Amino acid sequence: MSDTLRATPQPAPIPLSSKPAPGPPRPSETRSRAGKTACIRTFGCQMNVHDSDRMRRMIQDAGYAEVQRYEEADLVILNTCYVRENAVDRVRGHLGELNRLRREGRVKKVALTGCIGAAAEAATLQRTYDIDLVLGTHNTYELAEFVGLPTMAETYTPELPGTEGEHGAFVTIMTGCNYQCSYCIVPTVRGRMVCRPRQSVLEEVDRLVEGGTRYVTLLGQTVDAWRHGGERFCDLLEAVSERAPRVWFTTSHPSNMEDRTLRAIGERESIVKRLHLPVQSGSDRMLKIMHRGYKAERYRRKIEVFREAVPDGTLSTDIIIGHPGETEDDHERTLELVEDCGFDSAYIFKFSPRAGTEAAELRDAVPDERVVQRRFLEVLRAVEQNAFTRNQRKVGGVEEIYIRHGSAEGGKAIGETWSGHAVHVKTEARPGEYVRAKIESAGPHVLYAGDPVA
Ligand code: 5AD
Ligand code: SF4
Repeated sequence: MSDTLRATPQPAPIPLSSKPAPGPPRPSETRSRAGKTACIRTFGCQMNVHDSDRMRRMIQDAGYAEVQRYEEADLVILNTCYVRENAVDRVRGHLGELNRLRREGRVKKVALTGCIGAAAEAATLQRTYDIDLVLGTHNTYELAEFVGLPTMAETYTPELPGTEGEHGAFVTIMTGCNYQCSYCIVPTVRGRMVCRPRQSVLEEVDRLVEGGTRYVTLLGQTVDAWRHGGERFCDLLEAVSERAPRVWFTTSHPSNMEDRTLRAIGERESIVKRLHLPVQSGSDRMLKIMHRGYKAERYRRKIEVFREAVPDGTLSTDIIIGHPGETEDDHERTLELVEDCGFDSAYIFKFSPRAGTEAAELRDAVPDERVVQRRFLEVLRAVEQNAFTRNQRKVGGVEEIYIRHGSAEGGKAIGETWSGHAVHVKTEARPGEYVRAKIESAGPHVLYAGDPVA
């Protein structure tokens, strides 16, 4: 079993892999028409998806046609994630394959960007795999120069949006993180928190909405820590919710989450009633070792406020299993918290030591792999059971469903209710449109709707 399991997956606003280029041009046509071709492969979180969108715009401006297969690409960009060790292993596999293609004269240049690019390990990887360009998360704009666009440093600042998906767009409102969680590499590779000014965010939202965007997701590692000129995250969220027809935000930190933000989710019609609030552990002892800055009781209180303010809402979380020092008693506390909070979904991670983090130095305290596996499955089952019970309550109701991914021929489209539930629905409606349909059944991960009603 993989060491990361999302107990109840919902579709990300756009897939966590490179978006397909519009239309399916045949390789030979692509090459002769555009001359140069590039392939962007994205690993990891939505921040990376967003960075890839920005790089996509650069390569397009430089005259590259985007292709989906390494074999067809002159330039391959691996935009990487460093959060867990297996992420690096995966990228190594891709780099090995690219070296082979390069020897065969198919791929010409390889760029490594994103979080691995910002890490110390990047220098070794560059030597081992003879990588042409390594960029961190702060200097992504240097790709512009590499692909032959002069003076792009100012044009591609982090303030500029990526290319928008057809109807959904990410808007980064803050970068970096001021926390120092024991296990986490993010503060090292993304740096300290930088908040984008309110005016700049709102201008981008206005421009996107004018251009046809119907779903805006505000992004940041600790999005609810945003503050600027005396304003806090809730002020910004309210302003955005007045401008965009559908709004969501991720990821939040329990210490920054204000009750008024939770109430705004319930009160504001345009905000999707879904909260992702990573808890990591239900044990106060572990939360302290992890430097999370809150106790389980405080997290529970936040959830009580959310459930009261947003009775129909969905709640998801992140949980780490087997962090150094985790005892059976700590694990029991996590199971209790899962029971009490009744999560609708959770990303459950086995602890993975990241060089340069505090927790990586505590390796001898890591529980035995078999113990970790058992705890992992226990938490997974508890989350899935809760989610299944909660999803059953939706059966029989008629829901307004926002289409995120249109149906592939005759298949089902994937949509989202206002409560944040993922729904499969048989419709020809396109992404960005709404349909109404009755929920006919439900699994632990997704709801299934009948034919749309008028
Ligand atoms: N090991 C396991 N899980 C991790 N996460 C972050 N770093 C690690 C690590 N070293 C998880 C946390 C975080 C999510 C994005 O990834 O749960 O919330
Ligand atoms: Fe990592 Fe903690 Fe910052 Fe989240 S809050 S990005 S887990 S350091």
